[in-house]
Amino acid sequence: MDPSISCCFAAATTVALLLLIASPAATADPVGAGGWEDAHATFYGDETGAETMQGACGYGNLFEQGYGLATTALSSALFNDGWSCGACYELQCQNSTYCKPIGGGASVTVTATNACPANYSKPNENWCNPPQRHFDLSKPMFMDLVTDFHVGIIPVKYRRVPCVKSGGVRFEMMGNEWWVAVLVYNVAGAGEVRAVAVKGDRDGWWMDMHRNWGQIWDGDARLIGQGLSFRVTTGDGRAIVFDDVVPPTWTAGQSFKSNQQFVGV
Ligand SMILES: *[C@@H]1O[C@H](CO)[C@@H](O)[C@H](O)[C@H]1NC(C)=O
Ligand SMILES: *[C@@H]1O[C@H](CO)[C@@H](O)[C@H](O)[C@H]1NC(C)=O
Repeated sequence: MDPSISCCFAAATTVALLLLIASPAATADPVGAGGWEDAHATFYGDETGAETMQGACGYGNLFEQGYGLATTALSSALFNDGWSCGACYELQCQNSTYCKPIGGGASVTVTATNACPANYSKPNENWCNPPQRHFDLSKPMFMDLVTDFHVGIIPVKYRRVPCVKSGGVRFEMMGNEWWVAVLVYNVAGAGEVRAVAVKGDRDGWWMDMHRNWGQIWDGDARLIGQGLSFRVTTGDGRAIVFDDVVPPTWTAGQSFKSNQQFVGV
């Protein structure tokens, strides 16, 4: 065997491994594989969940978009500048006399749809400042965990779990004739999107999009009048191509349902 080949093959493997480690997809928690971790939880808004809409992830009406009331805002340490948007967490109340018994259903599974921003000028109750792990739940989710919501804050344990969604991944078109943007939502499995590429049916080539904020991805291309395909990669490295999921007649503000989903995580 030629030693130079074995040398360089090993080097190439090392580079490939480093690239793998450096990519956000590979650094994500393996969904469902992690153990329980400690955090705290509070709630925001009222029983209707009205205040949970239009949050820092770019989602809009959470009922229309399939998330409902089973949502949470994440402290900065968990939010990770929006990369955690769409991820799902199971929470259990612990170490408080206000905890409902676990057997009584005191466990909730929520999707991250918002940020609980840090506030460094707050002397106390600054739960969302790093490095604290904190869940600011919708009020109905908090009420599911405790016997009396007036307790305000509780210790919880949490773990990442695969997201279960109804129907396929959906795409809401944004942008204008100069640039294209899309909100990717109702994502099952890992839940958080790590990369998006778009292809216009006339152009015929894939263009990587950039995450602008939350789960809104944009690209510097004129794609009005073209049917669009998207290639979506989630935090566990899985990718799906959604061929021609958006028809050439699309305009900003329209949503399109695919019939494909990330399952079996
Ligand atoms: C941050 O906390 C301070 C002190 O409690 C408060 O006055 C201020 O309104 C907070 N800022 C934001 C952006 O919430
Ligand atoms: C809850 O109690 C357990 C057992 O005493 C402890 O290991 C854990 O750190 C506590 N969690 C919180 C969030 O206080």
